[in-house]
Amino acid sequence: MGLIPQHSIDAVINANDIVDVVSRYVRLEKKSSLNLFGLCPFHEEKTPSFSVSPGKQIFYCFGCHKGGNVIKFIQEIEHLTFPEAVRFLAERAGITIEETEEDSHWRERADRQRAASEALLEAARFFYTKLESSDGLEARQYLDKRGVDRALRRRYGLGYAPAYGETLYDGLRKRGIPDSAMLDAGLIAKSSRHEGYYDFFRHRVMFPIIDARGRVLAFGGRAIRDRGPKYINSPDTVVYQKGKHLFGFPQAINASFRQWFIVEGYMDVIALAKVGVYHVVAPLGTALTDYQARSVGRHVDGVLLLMDSDRAGREAALKAHEIFESMEVPAKFILLKEAKDPDDYLNKFGSQRLTASLRTPLDKTEYRLELLKTDVDTEIAVPQADYRNRAIDILAQEKDGIKREIYAGRLAKELQLNATSLVNEIDRRRTLLIEGKESSGIATAPRQAEQRRKRRISRRPAGRELFLLTLLTFDRSLAQLRLGLSDSELRGFAVTDDVKDLLLSDEAGSAISPNDFGSDFMQNLAQAAIEEAISGELTLAGLDASIGNSLARLTESLHEEEDRERLAKSADALHTLLIRQHREVTDAKMTKDELRNIFLDRLAYIRMSSWTSNAERWNSEAHELELSGDGQEAERLYAKAATYTMAAETFRMLIQGD
Ligand code: UTP
Ligand code: MN
Repeated sequence: MGLIPQHSIDAVINANDIVDVVSRYVRLEKKSSLNLFGLCPFHEEKTPSFSVSPGKQIFYCFGCHKGGNVIKFIQEIEHLTFPEAVRFLAERAGITIEETEEDSHWRERADRQRAASEALLEAARFFYTKLESSDGLEARQYLDKRGVDRALRRRYGLGYAPAYGETLYDGLRKRGIPDSAMLDAGLIAKSSRHEGYYDFFRHRVMFPIIDARGRVLAFGGRAIRDRGPKYINSPDTVVYQKGKHLFGFPQAINASFRQWFIVEGYMDVIALAKVGVYHVVAPLGTALTDYQARSVGRHVDGVLLLMDSDRAGREAALKAHEIFESMEVPAKFILLKEAKDPDDYLNKFGSQRLTASLRTPLDKTEYRLELLKTDVDTEIAVPQADYRNRAIDILAQEKDGIKREIYAGRLAKELQLNATSLVNEIDRRRTLLIEGKESSGIATAPRQAEQRRKRRISRRPAGRELFLLTLLTFDRSLAQLRLGLSDSELRGFAVTDDVKDLLLSDEAGSAISPNDFGSDFMQNLAQAAIEEAISGELTLAGLDASIGNSLARLTESLHEEEDRERLAKSADALHTLLIRQHREVTDAKMTKDELRNIFLDRLAYIRMSSWTSNAERWNSEAHELELSGDGQEAERLYAKAATYTMAAETFRMLIQGD
């Protein structure tokens, strides 16, 4: 899909009134003189917080904070990329989009992409031929040993990258591929030792990554001997960005099934293919991204998640479930017991049992219950009392009443418990859960009330930032508490080095800082409060005074009367909120540990939210750059956005993990 000129984008926006477009998905009512309101299509709610402004031609949800123009709305609701959404709306309005052939930047970029694509296609052919030639003997033996026959090698276009320095480079040059195209395609790299180039992949089995249109985008190369990294993947290039593509994609499309398996790696795709299942895709060396989930979502009515059995795999599966759920793509789980991944399972138990397992999907509750039974790390069964307690919690979280009852019946039988009392206990905990209380353990009445108060504070969406400062007045030492992760906590997470470095950096791990706060006003306030907390002077009165001081300082710099008024109003609201938060924390009688935990939890939340929203901004900036032809800068920004998004996801997973 080519790039779309700005004037066409403008035309599309002008031709699609946002109220018309949104009304096809959401029932809107006029509530104020300016805006229309309705139930937000992007999150579950009972009272309308989704607003559309006909004047500004934008939408915004006060609940989930999604917002943007008509293109953004279509992107979100139809799960489309930006250019796809533009085309969708163009079609709706009967506009034809022409591509700016005369735009030289664009053409240059398109030329580079075309040349890189050609180099990649030639490389795939080269690798394939090598695999079937005498040079490929060791690679063929390796694949034979792993049960990958010639038919499968062909179907997935597997190949072999020879062991010696520059075989591919020479081979492609003979076919007239220019050096620049090979470099752009990530196939060769400049040698630091001598003039010239060397092949990026050497002595590896090659897995081509191919898109829906059959274009070769990149490669994964598996080591044949146990030396060096097991897999090497192509770097990001003019045609390939990490986190956007999946292995097995065209094969899965061809299989024409409306339900795909999502697995972790190359060999898992191949393992399922060995038993004749080709509707399988794998994200490449990272956790499944939203982007990949959306690509899959366009081709399926549902997915089956089949990740590795280790802790990281389980977490990845639950995370992927969350992503698909948010896109309203039904997702279920396949659990393979006593094997680390599908390939391992096939080798241990054979094709019949693998096929049978693939036909027994579990819903989320069933999956979580199964996971409870054995601790992956120790392979030791959990004590029965713990098991029962946690199982009841899981059942209490199941929304579907019928499922709740069925699974409760099974659990009762399994544990030889009275079914009625088990159901009663589940219902009791469910009520607590819905009311927002802790659901584990037996809580006495006053404790429950206290817990409810704690929850209420921690859930309040407005004043999240202020809440951190309020907590500082209770324990000033919190100002110096680091959020840091340790190397060992990250173990088992399949993250790239960039992501890992970021997660271990000060940017992730530092104590609370003004940078964690969004507006100038809050940054100003936070700076004062943190300084005072560190010097041991911070008090409630002091914090309240700082609100006034920050207001005074910022008001000076504002020229519009309207802006000044708005700021004064929000300072006033903060003042009220501060008093209320302070009283609530006092009433909740938290211990030092509880304060600390809630503080770290909230801090992590706002820090990661800001990463995610920065990443969203970079993504759209990158998109703009792409449109204006600055491909290199765009790619840099895309990559940065991807790193931050993945890091934030991982961080959240770790925090929620315990
Ligand atoms: P696995 O280690 O589970 O690989 O990593 P696998 O696909 O099962 O391969 P075999 O059976 O051991 O040969 C899962 C995926 O993580 C990425 C690859 O995409 C791999 O398929 N990965 C793994 C890397 O990118 N680099 C590595 O060094 C290891
Ligand atoms: Mn594996």
